[in-house]
Amino acid sequence: ESLMIDQVLVQSGASPAFAQTSAPFDAEHLRADFPILEQRDARGNRLVFLDSASSSQKPLAVLEAVDEHYRTANANIHRGRYALSDLATSKYEHAREQVAALINAPTPRSCIFVRNTTEAINLVAWSWGRSNLHAGDRIAITTLDHHSNLVPWQLLAAEKGVTILHVGITPDGQLDLDDLDRALAQEPKALCFPMTSNSVGSVTDAREVIRRAHAAGAIVIVDGAQAVPHQPVDVQDLDCDFLAFSGHKMAAPMGSGVLFGRLSLLDAMPPFMAGGGMVRLVTPDESFFAEVPERFEAGTPAVGEAIGLGAAADYLRGVGLDAIHHHTTHLAESLRDQLDAIPGVRLHGPRDRDHRSGIVAFTVDALDPVSVAAALDEDSIAVRAGRHCCHPLFDALGLDGVIRASFYLYNTQDDADRLASAIDRIASGNRKDLRRGEADAANPCGRPVYLDA
Ligand code: ALA
Repeated sequence: ESLMIDQVLVQSGASPAFAQTSAPFDAEHLRADFPILEQRDARGNRLVFLDSASSSQKPLAVLEAVDEHYRTANANIHRGRYALSDLATSKYEHAREQVAALINAPTPRSCIFVRNTTEAINLVAWSWGRSNLHAGDRIAITTLDHHSNLVPWQLLAAEKGVTILHVGITPDGQLDLDDLDRALAQEPKALCFPMTSNSVGSVTDAREVIRRAHAAGAIVIVDGAQAVPHQPVDVQDLDCDFLAFSGHKMAAPMGSGVLFGRLSLLDAMPPFMAGGGMVRLVTPDESFFAEVPERFEAGTPAVGEAIGLGAAADYLRGVGLDAIHHHTTHLAESLRDQLDAIPGVRLHGPRDRDHRSGIVAFTVDALDPVSVAAALDEDSIAVRAGRHCCHPLFDALGLDGVIRASFYLYNTQDDADRLASAIDRIASGNRKDLRRGEADAANPCGRPVYLDA
């Protein structure tokens, strides 16, 4: 039986790119790891996928790990007294070790499997927040935050009488460190912030922000959704208390994600969701809860998806997070340079290159961002446009939305060039149907609300 487990684990770690850790970065070669990118449109053009900040594509190593799990090892975990259940349990716990290694967590126990970043932050808000925050307390969040790091805290604040302090931004969409100090001087119990903004791509100096927050007595909840897939993230080096990230943005299946927590905090936290799998003993009147991490994994988890996430963590480490960061930021800079030369195009986000990421946010004067995205789709170019689940940020920037191109390891220079030439054609094309206000007239039923969100 142990031989069988070893075989499965060795196979799930194998992939073409993983085997080539010392090879130079070759995006075209890596692209071949992603079967979906082989698709061609009716004119024979290949798909230019520039929406990985929303959700990334998945490599064969991950698809095969999930497929193999359901073909050869599927059974419920932590419950069965038979070989198949033991095998599934071993693989699930191995996946926890793989994600712990990715972020250098001191122990796999400090990594809780969740569905996504949103669930991870809700877990912290409802478990840590409910038991540690009281009427009159303050917490601080930032104008850069995604709704997932804002709305859970708003609900909690309303329930408990907690005040939310908002840390502002600079005009070019970076965290305003002076405003951070102003907020920290009011002694919030917690600070939440994104390492990388999902909408304008600004990169925050997370170590420095965490140092200042700890010095002011706040615990720190880091939204790592746009950082963990793209650069080395080391929770011990950062010294963060919580780190939330999604699997689906880092080459892993939908419905997989992680909450890392400092063990001393997690051990003291009450359950978030309740049910089977998170208890030691239940009587008709009370329950005694399991240790961490099981305490926070109520019900049957998404086992195959977690195993896929473990395979994705190994895949990304095999390619090299430093190399991925270098590649995506290089392509983003190339796109920025090309867009900057097009009349009518405006770039948004940090002026300082050191604070930029693989995300490029821009607008085309007079044109509606969502309509421009639809026009790009005619050329098989996939981008996201709108307000990117960050309404307060867009209010602060005075924008009604941006077009966002986000790069990942499988993007090539050709992808950046094709987007730039399509925008060049659109910007000079005088297309009335793309103008602000025209989109609604052309679509009297209104477009789905999510497109403007
Ligand atoms: N948070 C994801 C994005 O930025 C969905 O697109």
